[in-house]
Amino acid sequence: MPALRDEAATEAPAAVAAEAPAEAVGPLLRGVAVLRALTAAPQQSLTLGELARATGLARATTDRIAATLARLGYLRVDGRTATLAPALMEVGNAYLASVRLPDLLGPLADRLADTLDESVSLAVPDGSGIRFVHQATRRRTLSLSFRIGDLLPLERTAPGPLFAARWSEDDWTAWSARGPESFPAVPTGSTVPTVPTVPTGSTGPTGPTGRTVAAGTDVPDLRARAEAAARDGWALDDQLIESGLVALAVPVHDATGALVCAVSVVSHTSRHSAPHLREVLLPALTAARDEMESVLRAPREQHPASSPTVTPTSTSSPAVSSTGGRSAAAAAVSKGELGADFIESLARGLLVPTAFGADRPELSLSAVAEATGLARATARRALITLEHLGYVTATGRSFRLTPTVLELGYAPLSGLTLADLAAPHLADLVAQVHDSASMAVLDGHDIRYTARVAASRVMSVRISVGTRFPAYATAMGRVLLAALPPGARDALLAGEDLRPLTAHTLTDPAALTTALARTATDGHTVVTDELEEGLRSIAVPIHAADGCVLAAVNVSMHTARRSLAECRATVLPALRAAAARIEADLAVSGRFAPTPVA
Ligand code: PHB
Repeated sequence: MPALRDEAATEAPAAVAAEAPAEAVGPLLRGVAVLRALTAAPQQSLTLGELARATGLARATTDRIAATLARLGYLRVDGRTATLAPALMEVGNAYLASVRLPDLLGPLADRLADTLDESVSLAVPDGSGIRFVHQATRRRTLSLSFRIGDLLPLERTAPGPLFAARWSEDDWTAWSARGPESFPAVPTGSTVPTVPTVPTGSTGPTGPTGRTVAAGTDVPDLRARAEAAARDGWALDDQLIESGLVALAVPVHDATGALVCAVSVVSHTSRHSAPHLREVLLPALTAARDEMESVLRAPREQHPASSPTVTPTSTSSPAVSSTGGRSAAAAAVSKGELGADFIESLARGLLVPTAFGADRPELSLSAVAEATGLARATARRALITLEHLGYVTATGRSFRLTPTVLELGYAPLSGLTLADLAAPHLADLVAQVHDSASMAVLDGHDIRYTARVAASRVMSVRISVGTRFPAYATAMGRVLLAALPPGARDALLAGEDLRPLTAHTLTDPAALTTALARTATDGHTVVTDELEEGLRSIAVPIHAADGCVLAAVNVSMHTARRSLAECRATVLPALRAAAARIEADLAVSGRFAPTPVA
């Protein structure tokens, strides 16, 4: 009966458990193993049985860990399948907020990308790799594009030699002794399913799951490249990651002279050879770097204010938010509700990373305990465990997060579109109201469906993702039109032929303007019989964290199903709650990288 056994007595994957310090929290180690296994899985999804096999954990242990992580909002369990959920990104967000590089330097990197019309990235060293903390991507001819959180093998990159240039002999020794490491898949926007798997010590990497990276290329000696980087102040990657991909990087230092990250411009040999990239773009890259360094030298009070790591969700429960709640008190409530299926020590351990943030980059043990509401001894053991995992580093008595926490799902989850974020919430809504739910965006004069979950009942209207309808005659369209700035809305409607689609369609511009004003005030609208006789749709907007309306979601039904009043009384609250959950996910996933809307 493993479910009833003491957690510490249950088996853990040998790789994690072997060298863990005696005080490490076993359930936290095992919970992290589950999150890592899901991160590595296709679509970040595994059945519970597969998850048990992938982690080496007992099935009952796996189930309890999955139930706990689901309660925290970090994964979703549908039937037998567990999938990472966007709320997990708050762990990576805590690191990104605390390191401040994306907030402070990201806008300058974006501007450089615009000026050069090339991709620009910020990367930090992470073990034997470099990890991206910001991306301004121009997709054009790159077959590979990297995401925030992606890790590349240091010796195959442009930033790598810049970091290695600062290494001590001990660092070089550690580097030479690094174990065989496989670098995770880097598949975004990629036309080729590329996985730069790089077994250490080999020069022509062909991992079991990866295709050959830059076939036939020997990796030039890192020491020689590091010496050159120290002398020149820049470094190149001439197709070491992928054939055709070239990158030029320069180091960025903070006010104390510490090397904090590298800024790279990334191009393709169809536009620049590597030497040409350096000749033509080094001056602009260096100038942007100088500006970045002056931002880092400016006193902290002159730094732009940044938003909080965790955006509070709009649920009313003080103890448990829709994403689980982030306090020791919330964990206790969950324990009360889920009983033996809730592993409190795992939930408590995962609270610790979220104690860090923009104004709390470095915390003492007492500060961690205070921020999380954990007992000192509990916080201490969690920190010991996280340090063992490489997620936390200690200097004297203070702790900071490391970029390695981004390995917990950050890169793949950051690739989710708004429609991906919405899909599970729309499915929950459909299960509640037993009518179809959809999401749409404005596309010219039309709405375009980006997500749809059909109720089993047969509808007369055939709708699928990609379907378009004239915005003026639909509830989602009116929500989207109502959110436009008045000038843009008037210009759009001025060119619109308001054709009657049924005998009930509003075709009088003045009446439509009044309806839109009402929609804006009410925050929702109902449209009945205007697109098709017998069809009623109720819609609300989806806001980004900055308040912009990005999309609309609706529930559509036969008019015979409910009166208008019933629709407002029963469907609207459920629809609003679903919209709030989508917005909460969006606030987390869009904190450091814009979530693609469709
Ligand atoms: C590199 O290969 O060195 C490289 C690739 C992509 C980046 C930065 C550097 O964004």
